[in-house]
Amino acid sequence: MTRISVIGCGYLGAVHAASMAEVGHQVVGIDTDAEKIALLSQGKAPFYEPGFDELLRRNVESGRLTFSTDFADATQAEIHFIGVGTPQRPDGQGADLAYVHAATDALLAVLPDHPERASLVAGKSTVPVGTAAALAEKFSAKGALVAWNPEFLREGFAVDDTLRPDRLVYGLPADPEQAKLAEAKLDAAYAKILSGETYEGRDWTETPKVVTDYATAELVKVAANSFLATKISFINAMAEICDATGGNVTTLAEAIGYDDRIGKKFLRAGVGFGGGCLPKDIRAFQARVDELGLNETLDFLSDIDAVNVRQRSRVVTKLADALGGSVEGKTIAVLGAAFKPDSDDIRDSPAVDVARRLIAAGAVVRVTDPKAGPVVAKYAPDLPFVDTVDLAVDGADAIAVLTEWTEFRQLDPVEVAGKMSHNIVLDGRNCLAKQAWMHAGFSYLGMGQ
Ligand code: UDX
Repeated sequence: MTRISVIGCGYLGAVHAASMAEVGHQVVGIDTDAEKIALLSQGKAPFYEPGFDELLRRNVESGRLTFSTDFADATQAEIHFIGVGTPQRPDGQGADLAYVHAATDALLAVLPDHPERASLVAGKSTVPVGTAAALAEKFSAKGALVAWNPEFLREGFAVDDTLRPDRLVYGLPADPEQAKLAEAKLDAAYAKILSGETYEGRDWTETPKVVTDYATAELVKVAANSFLATKISFINAMAEICDATGGNVTTLAEAIGYDDRIGKKFLRAGVGFGGGCLPKDIRAFQARVDELGLNETLDFLSDIDAVNVRQRSRVVTKLADALGGSVEGKTIAVLGAAFKPDSDDIRDSPAVDVARRLIAAGAVVRVTDPKAGPVVAKYAPDLPFVDTVDLAVDGADAIAVLTEWTEFRQLDPVEVAGKMSHNIVLDGRNCLAKQAWMHAGFSYLGMGQ
């Protein structure tokens, strides 16, 4: 058992804290948001994530997992995981490190000076390359070590990705003695995960571990997300070409995907990527590389970003064309607000952006989503939200499916048709049974099909 603190209890930190308790450690989660800490302390998840509720409740009840707003409660820990957010700067493309600095400064203030056993600060947040080295300098004053240990969890699969990750990456100090100490601490924290014990009920498998320096570990994360973003924008560019030529992007993706150098995953064309990671990470990566004087190296990421954002305007144009040239005065049901299904996260969500573009173009919009309602009310109160699909489609001229929730994919088009004024469906995620919707009398608009 290792004593662990996890600083920052958002989608990443809260799941990490509960998972560390699940594998037997004594964990305290720290966050400055008192409301969030109050909920977590009662074993209540402050956001929607499948499986997280149970994991949280179980570990809070066992006493292995506590939460606090007071950094002093972290001082007993041997490892401090940093899981605070690094959003896009309000005034530019780079990452805003304000939360990283606030968290690490608060931790520095309470850490004892040069205790017998050095503690380890393990960064999990996505940061610009060079951040870990700068923090290591600061923490050396207290005799604490720094490692960078990026997190690759996907929302909607966060619990599984944390307990059964496809790899662990350790960015360790350059000094070999310090590196050995830091590695041993991370190994202790991840012992069960590394050995494959957490793969219960599946084929037994060990988790691959990649041991490297700070810079590589920091870069692995942004490189991975840039590659994923590139795959999505690539297939969305193909979708645009399919729209112009009568091709079918879903078949195209299947056909190229049989080549295992390309692979089938992350080639779903549609309204594009959103969320708290991909969009801001490709921008921050570019901004950091510009700072390093490599101004042209990641220019292609601007195009990836532009292709992505263009899908949102393509949805509006497709709807306008189908509605006789304009969406003005038309009632449009927007199905989906979350940036992807099985999440209530609406950060940089294509669905939210499209809804706002439709409103700006004069449409009467009704948004619905099975889980994101409370988040929309809090962070996007400008959007007219209704609780059910029935309310959204009632008398509508068109519906736009922008998040592929199972509930939307399984809608009965005949039933939906009976409630609408005009039968136009825009399938922004290519997730509906096209033939069934057409048979029910819908004009079906896909993305590249
Ligand atoms: C991503 C990375 O996958 C994860 O490894 C990293 O730790 C954080 O960022 P996440 O933001 O949870 O995870 O979502 P992800 O599943 O990657 O999807 C991102 C966006 O891309 C979503 O809006 C999704 O709808 C979209 N997407 C995904 C597509 O449009 N097409 C695809 O084929 C796949």
